Amino acid sequence: MLIRCAHFAKPAASEITPRHLAESRRLFLSQLAAGVLSATGVALDAASAEGGMRQLTAPANPAFTAKDKPTRFDDATTYNNFYEFGMDKGDPAIYAGSLKTRPWTVRIDGEVKKPLTLDIDALLKLAPLEERLYRLRCVEGWSMVIPWIGYSFAELIRKAEPTGNAKFVEFTSLADPAQMRGVNSRVLDWPYTEGLRIDEANHPLTLLCVGLYGQVLPNQNGAPVRIVVPWKYGFKSAKSIVRIRFTEQQPRTAWGRAAPEEYGFYSNVNPEVSHPRWSQATERRIGEDGLFTRKRKTLMFNGYPEVASLYAGMDLKKFF
Ligand code: MTE
Repeated sequence: MLIRCAHFAKPAASEITPRHLAESRRLFLSQLAAGVLSATGVALDAASAEGGMRQLTAPANPAFTAKDKPTRFDDATTYNNFYEFGMDKGDPAIYAGSLKTRPWTVRIDGEVKKPLTLDIDALLKLAPLEERLYRLRCVEGWSMVIPWIGYSFAELIRKAEPTGNAKFVEFTSLADPAQMRGVNSRVLDWPYTEGLRIDEANHPLTLLCVGLYGQVLPNQNGAPVRIVVPWKYGFKSAKSIVRIRFTEQQPRTAWGRAAPEEYGFYSNVNPEVSHPRWSQATERRIGEDGLFTRKRKTLMFNGYPEVASLYAGMDLKKFF
């Protein structure tokens, strides 16, 4: 993801010690030092600021349950990309406790019949929650399989009543330097924004996500509400969303502003379209890595062929 990808240029120590293990060890030690963990490793209340560890159960939807083995909870919550809290994979788990997720509102505006501001608790109740086991593949070449909790974003689109001019949806993440130490750096042009075409946003796979592994979303995974678009590279799945805007024009995105030749608007997982600096043909499944573990082949649309019709007739090398 990094624009000046130092960690892609040289083999990291993590190629010898699996990176996520190194990260969680480092996280454990730094949290211990920061007084966040007890000596037994049990998270104290202070660590679950704003209820990061609160239970949130929902029935699994078999239509959206990947056959893959789920990633370990510890890996999914300590190996994160959330640049608002720092650029290291372990930073979000260490520093995102400073994010206050209540009260929280999401502004819905732009090309809609009636703009509205929804409180997070109202948003949670808009449709029945369900659990979906989705693969998520990062543009950096690693992937995870996570039991996410939420409902189809299409439910929110219905509530928002977009006008006939609405062709795209833009997501804006919170960018508050007082709560998010990474926003003080200029690594991205804040706030983090992302976008989808409206038919992509309306696809039943696109998830408005509020939890994972039977719990409310931990802050480092994008609390209190994020999007999960499993057939696109992970950066399309914006975290800690405060605004959803329906637009006529294709919205600009944070990564598109930073490096347009590297991060296209569509960013569908596509093993045939290499990132300019590395191949996208294979991936490393977090939790399965080891010195001799073979990488997996990356699947077109991340193994969600049901979305192919959204792109019928499009040259996916041009619209990468
Ligand atoms: N959203 C915001 N606001 N800021 C970010 O840095 N990183 C993206 C995406 N959403 C990011 C974000 C990237 S690069 C990835 S791979 C996924 O979040 C990672 O989600 P996870 O940490 O829950 O696995």
